[in-house]
Amino acid sequence: MQNIQIIGVVGAGQMGRGIAQVAIQSGFQVIMFDAFQNALDFGADFIKGQLKKGTEKGKWTSDEADSALKRLKTAVDMKDLKDCDLVIEAATENRALKFDIFKKLDEIIKPSAILASNTSSISITEIAAKTKRPQLVAGMHFMNPVPVMKLVEGIRGLETSDETFNTVAAVSEKMGKTFVRAQDYPGFAVNRILMPMINEAFYALYEGVATPKDIDTAMKLGTNQPMGPFELADFIGLDTCLAIMDVLHTGLSDTKYRPCPLLKQYVAAGRFGRKNKKGVYVYE
Ligand SMILES: NC(=O)c1ccc[n+]([C@@H]2O[C@H](COP(=O)([O-])OP(=O)(O)OC[C@H]3O[C@@H](n4cnc5c(N)ncnc54)[C@H](O)[C@@H]3O)[C@@H](O)[C@H]2O)c1
Repeated sequence: MQNIQIIGVVGAGQMGRGIAQVAIQSGFQVIMFDAFQNALDFGADFIKGQLKKGTEKGKWTSDEADSALKRLKTAVDMKDLKDCDLVIEAATENRALKFDIFKKLDEIIKPSAILASNTSSISITEIAAKTKRPQLVAGMHFMNPVPVMKLVEGIRGLETSDETFNTVAAVSEKMGKTFVRAQDYPGFAVNRILMPMINEAFYALYEGVATPKDIDTAMKLGTNQPMGPFELADFIGLDTCLAIMDVLHTGLSDTKYRPCPLLKQYVAAGRFGRKNKKGVYVYE
C-alpha cells in the first residue's frame, strides 16, 4: 500500500471543501486547488467557519482546529499539486471538463501518485483512459455533506490495481469513513439504487398517487428513511438527479430507467431544488 501524506483536492465547491476539511482534520497535508480564485477563497473561508463552529459546539478543541488549519494550503495553479501523493478531483460534473483535468494532472503530478475522482456518474474507466497511469486511478465517491456522511463508495475502474484500491480504502478509513467497493458500472451502487427510487417517487406524483408531502411522510415513517425522496431530491439538486437518470438510461440501455416527464419538466422550469430555493418544494 502507498504511504499517503499530501492530498491534493481539485475543486473547492460543496464537495471539495468538505473533503479538504475532513482530510486536514484526519492529519493529512492538503492543497486545495480551484480554477477560480473566488471559489477558492469562499471554500477556504467556509472550512475556517466550519472549524470555528465545531469548536464552539465542543466537537473539537481550538488547538485541534488551529493545527488542522495549518495543514491546509490553497492554490490557483494546478502545478502546485505536483508533489501530492493522492489527488481527489471534485470539480463540476462535466465529462469534457473532468477528462481535461485528468490529462493535465497526469502530466503534472509525480508518476507514482494516485488520481481519484469524486464523480457521481462518470465512468472511472473512461477517466482513467485519459491518463498514462490507469492502474493508479480510482473513484472515491464521498457523500454530501462530507463531514457528516460516513460513506465513501470506492469505484474500481477496469485497470485499477489492487494496491491503488487498497490505498484509497485506507485513506478513506483514516478519514473516519466506511469504504464500500463497487465496480465501475453506471450509477455505481448508491445511485443505481437511490435514483430509480427518487424517479419512481416522481412517477407516483405524476400519476396522482399522493401529494409530495404525503409521499415523503410515507417513506420516512413507513420505511424508516431520515428524509423523504422529494426532500432528498431537492437537497441533491433535481438537475443532478435528472443527469444521473440519463446516465443510467443510456449506460444500461434499459427503459426501466427512463426519467419521469415530471422530473424533466421541473428541471426545464429551472426548479433545481434547495440550491435555488425552488424544487418540488419552495424554500424561503
Ligand atoms: N453535490 C453532491 O451532493 C455530490 C455528492 C457526491 C458527489 N458529487 C460530485 O462532486 C463533484 C463536485 O460537485 P459539487 O457539488 O462540489 O459542485 P460545486 O459546483 O459545488 O463545485 C465545483 C467546483 O469546481 C470548480 N471548478 C470548475 N472547473 C474547474 C477546473 N477546471 N479546475 C478546478 N476546479 C474547477 C468550481 O469553481 C467549483 O468550485 C461532482 O463531480 C459531483 O458529481 C456531488
